Amino acid sequence: MMEGSYKTRLVPIESGDEPVVQEAGELIRAGHLVAFPTETVYGLGCDGLNEEAARKVFATKGRPADNPLILHIADLDMMDDLVEGADQLDREFLQTFWPGPMTLIFRRKSIIPDTITGGGETVAIRFPNHPLAQKFIKACDRPIAAPSANISGRPSPTTAQDVLQDMDGRIPLILDGGACQIGIESTVIDMTVTPPLILRPGYYTPEDLDAWLPGIALDQSILKAGVIPKSPGQKYKHYAPKADMVIGLGPVDRVTDWLLTRSKADQARGLKVGILCFEEEDQLAKKRGDHFSHADKLILQGSRSQPRTMAHDLFSNLRKFDRAGMDIILAVGLEEGGFETSVMNRMKKSAGGQVLSL
Ligand code: TXA
Ligand code: MG
Repeated sequence: MMEGSYKTRLVPIESGDEPVVQEAGELIRAGHLVAFPTETVYGLGCDGLNEEAARKVFATKGRPADNPLILHIADLDMMDDLVEGADQLDREFLQTFWPGPMTLIFRRKSIIPDTITGGGETVAIRFPNHPLAQKFIKACDRPIAAPSANISGRPSPTTAQDVLQDMDGRIPLILDGGACQIGIESTVIDMTVTPPLILRPGYYTPEDLDAWLPGIALDQSILKAGVIPKSPGQKYKHYAPKADMVIGLGPVDRVTDWLLTRSKADQARGLKVGILCFEEEDQLAKKRGDHFSHADKLILQGSRSQPRTMAHDLFSNLRKFDRAGMDIILAVGLEEGGFETSVMNRMKKSAGGQVLSL
């Protein structure tokens, strides 16, 4: 079949025991791509040992060739064939965080196609904890290479409908397991350096990992603008909605003032303005009798004290603004630290770095 010539099927899955999951395995073994849910975001899966299939992933997403893929496993023993020194790894550490939203980078074995690793000497491995992801990988009976199932540069998909929006006609099958629990991608850790280094912040923070990986830290590029990231994927424009996006940071009252003034000024210039804020700003605006009902679209991302809710909804909210045809999104961010650093890493990339301290 030609690329882009598929009639894409989106199939809801309840238990993972449905025959279509076995069919997904057959498609993968025949070199096709299948999208599947994980606990973080949806993945665009291919046979992780098939060079040709891996090339299809890059072509389908429009992904730069130097940005390596993660190999997904459904059993710790699958690592033996993929990474050097798998038998010497601390199983207790692995079993504490796996299956789960953590990706580890090791020295690769030569069986892995160069297309997967970007030609480098290392490979990224993840053992997802979504039951359907595990059943799918088992049905494929091989490691599954899977980037997030979006067109490169767009927000990662956290529902099967989001995948369909980007992949309709490009792949044969989407396994629909509902909305992803976490909503931002896994924590990527380089295990080939001492101490280990977090290349992409995610669900697990340095604080969560330090007891197991003493001295673990975030790559400097995550904290400082202008530092070149060690992980290829971190250097590209990412997660971007079609609308322009500006982030406001600061106390509730100042941020609320900014949202009110800026949104009205932008509307006066003829722009369609979306507001992405917390319940705190919404309540304050209402209390002042000058609420955000003038916004062309208003989305609340939970409370400031619930960064996990904000993360869960972030990418799907950005896609909602796109579907509503916004020209600009005024978004409220959180002070960094712990998990907030992870969600703000995604939000800042979405906004192309446009952040205002208020
Ligand atoms: O949660 C996730 O990790 C999701 C789900 C589907 O598992 N996957 C995901 O894949 O986010 P992707 O391809 O969108 O992001 C993989 C990140 C990129 O930033 C890439 O540069 C980095 O991992 N990466 C992969 N292999 C690497 C390697 N060998 N060395 C350094 N960075 C690597
Ligand atoms: Mg991605």
